[in-house]
Amino acid sequence: MANQISFLVVCFVVLALSSVSYSLPFVVLHGLGDQCKNVGMDRFTQSLSKFSGEKGFCIEIGDGSHDSWFAPVTQQVDSVCETVKSLPELQSGYNLVGLSQGNVIGRGVIEWCDGAPPVHNMISLGGPHAGTASVPLCGTGTFCVIANLLIGLGVYTSYVQEHLGPAGYVKIPTDLEAYSKGCKFLPKLNNELEEFKNSTYKERFTGLSQLVLIMFENDKVLIPKETAWFGFYEENNFKTILSANETDLYKDDWIGLRALNEAGKVTWLSLPGGHLHITEAEMMTHIVPYLVDPFKTIKQYGQS
Ligand SMILES: *[C@@H]1O[C@H](CO)[C@@H](O)[C@H](O)[C@H]1NC(C)=O
Ligand SMILES: *[C@@H]1O[C@H](CO)[C@@H](O)[C@H](O)[C@H]1NC(C)=O
Repeated sequence: MANQISFLVVCFVVLALSSVSYSLPFVVLHGLGDQCKNVGMDRFTQSLSKFSGEKGFCIEIGDGSHDSWFAPVTQQVDSVCETVKSLPELQSGYNLVGLSQGNVIGRGVIEWCDGAPPVHNMISLGGPHAGTASVPLCGTGTFCVIANLLIGLGVYTSYVQEHLGPAGYVKIPTDLEAYSKGCKFLPKLNNELEEFKNSTYKERFTGLSQLVLIMFENDKVLIPKETAWFGFYEENNFKTILSANETDLYKDDWIGLRALNEAGKVTWLSLPGGHLHITEAEMMTHIVPYLVDPFKTIKQYGQS
């Protein structure tokens, strides 16, 4: 009898501890040209928060859309790195939801933000993980004039690398030599360069519990759309697209994607919409389960 009681007490304590450690807030990192205060972004964060019952933080970089275009992505990573270290609510860890460019920034935070709280699950919507073969269209806004001017100067020149965010992950398959030499961000993020490989990046990325990679079937922004699944054009070729598992990044496991996948921790998901077009029903089915506290039902049961 005494044994049974102490067993129950132990169970109770274990449940209580695990429910505490598993209730995590989430962080949203928006895409290029967007900002946290835009109606769409605000609604996205609020909806996820409402559906999951967890607190959500849309983390802004600098002044928002302007800086997302003109601050080098490495600097954008450093900015988010400082924010996640300073927000008290994130200190036990958090889940990360990335939109487009927000995903390569988020991955930079996971891989090289020293002293940061851990990221538990990463849900990636339309991320240019393996690069994108052209600078995303800016449109007609006032600063697009400057963006287009910069692009014209040559994407791998150091001036453009320092003044145009997306230049950090533009990968022209027919110009890989210039990319390897000039591109300041993606080769580092993906541990592509022999002389700069850093095993810490792989160790940290492999620490994720779940990685959800969402590709949009009608994505016209990412070129090719398969980059959202770490797929990309074959070298010197704009026709053949290699699946993630046919790339060296995967085969030689430069960042731990293969390790995660072989451990059953990667969900490869394809949705029918255009770039970042996701319905509330899809959010409920494909994002919210990775944000909710898995012990919530047990906690409720225990409390009743
Ligand atoms: C590898 O990256 C980690 C994380 O940023 C850093 O602390 C470490 O100094 C790097 N190692 C080398 C050899 O650059
Ligand atoms: C490689 O990826 C493709 C496309 O995602 C998939 O159909 C195939 O089964 C994978 N092959 C292996 C050996 O895992």
